[in-house]
Amino acid sequence: MIKKTWESVSKRWIAFSDNQDIHREHLNTPAFLSCLPDLSGKDVIDVACGIGDNTNLLSKMDCRITGIDFCDEFIDVANKRYSSEKTKFICMDAEKMSFADNSFDIAVSFMALMDMEKPESVMKEVFRVLKNEGLFFFSIIHPCFCPPEKNYVEKAGKYAKEVGAYFDVGQHTKKFEGFQTYRYHWTLGMWIDYIIQAGFCLQSIIEPRPDNKLIEKHPHFKQVEDIPNNMIIVCYKKPNACDVSSVMNPVNEAGAITTLNGGEL
Ligand SMILES: C[S@@+](CC[C@H](N)C(=O)[O-])C[C@H]1O[C@@H](n2cnc3c(N)ncnc32)[C@H](O)[C@@H]1O
Repeated sequence: MIKKTWESVSKRWIAFSDNQDIHREHLNTPAFLSCLPDLSGKDVIDVACGIGDNTNLLSKMDCRITGIDFCDEFIDVANKRYSSEKTKFICMDAEKMSFADNSFDIAVSFMALMDMEKPESVMKEVFRVLKNEGLFFFSIIHPCFCPPEKNYVEKAGKYAKEVGAYFDVGQHTKKFEGFQTYRYHWTLGMWIDYIIQAGFCLQSIIEPRPDNKLIEKHPHFKQVEDIPNNMIIVCYKKPNACDVSSVMNPVNEAGAITTLNGGEL
C-alpha cells in the first residue's frame, strides 16, 4: 500500500523535491554530509534514495554508490539524471534487498526510515548487507518534537512547541501542498530498540540546528533554532559486540532477573 501511495504522488513529489524542500536543501542534507567520514574508494548504499539527489552528492566523494528505492518512477528519474560507471540506481524494496551479505562499507538513508512500514526489518537488512565495522547513517523526523500532534507557540520572538500523541504510534498522514503520503511515528525508545535489535551499536545522535546566517536568509528556520526537527543517527556493525536482547525482557519466565551474561539474580 505504501509503495502504491508513493507511485500515485510521484510526479508531485518530484516537483516538491526539485523546488520546495528548503529544510532538506539548507539544513538536513548539509548537516548529514558534515557527519560523514571520507568515502573515497568505499562501497556505499543509499537506502530509499528517492530521485537520487543526495546519492549524486555523495558520488562526488569518489565512492562507488548504489541508490535503491521501491518507486519505479523515482529510480527512472535518478538513472536519467545521475547514473554513471560508479553511480547506480536499482528499484528494490529495502525490506528485502537482493545484495549478498557484507556487500557495503557504508550505508546511508536520508529522511526515509520514518516513511517505512517496518523500519526494524529494513535495519536488519542494512545490518546484513554491511561489512563488519560498517557504518550506518540515517536521518529521520525527530520523534520527540514531531509526534502526530504538534504546534509552534511564539512568545516575544522565541518559539516553543506543544507536542502530543507521543504514544500514538503507527501510521499517520504527512501533508504536503496539494498531496499527501503516509509516515509512521515511533517513540524514541522504539527507534533505539530497532537499532539494537538489528545488532547495531549506537555511536552518535546529532540534532541539526540552523545558524544565524541561515536564519537571516530564511527566517522560517527561526522555528527550529530552539527545537530540532530531525535527528541523524550513526550506528555501526560490530557483530556480537554485546547481546543486549535480554535487556528487552529482563525478567524470565521463572520471574528471575536475567543478566547480560545469561545469569539470573
Ligand atoms: C521522503 S522520501 C526521501 C527520499 C530521499 N532519501 C531524499 O532525501 O530525497 C522517502 C522515500 O522512501 C521510499 N521508500 C519508502 N519505503 C520504502 C521501502 N520499503 N523500500 C524502498 N524505498 C522505500 C519512498 O519511495 C521515497 O522515495
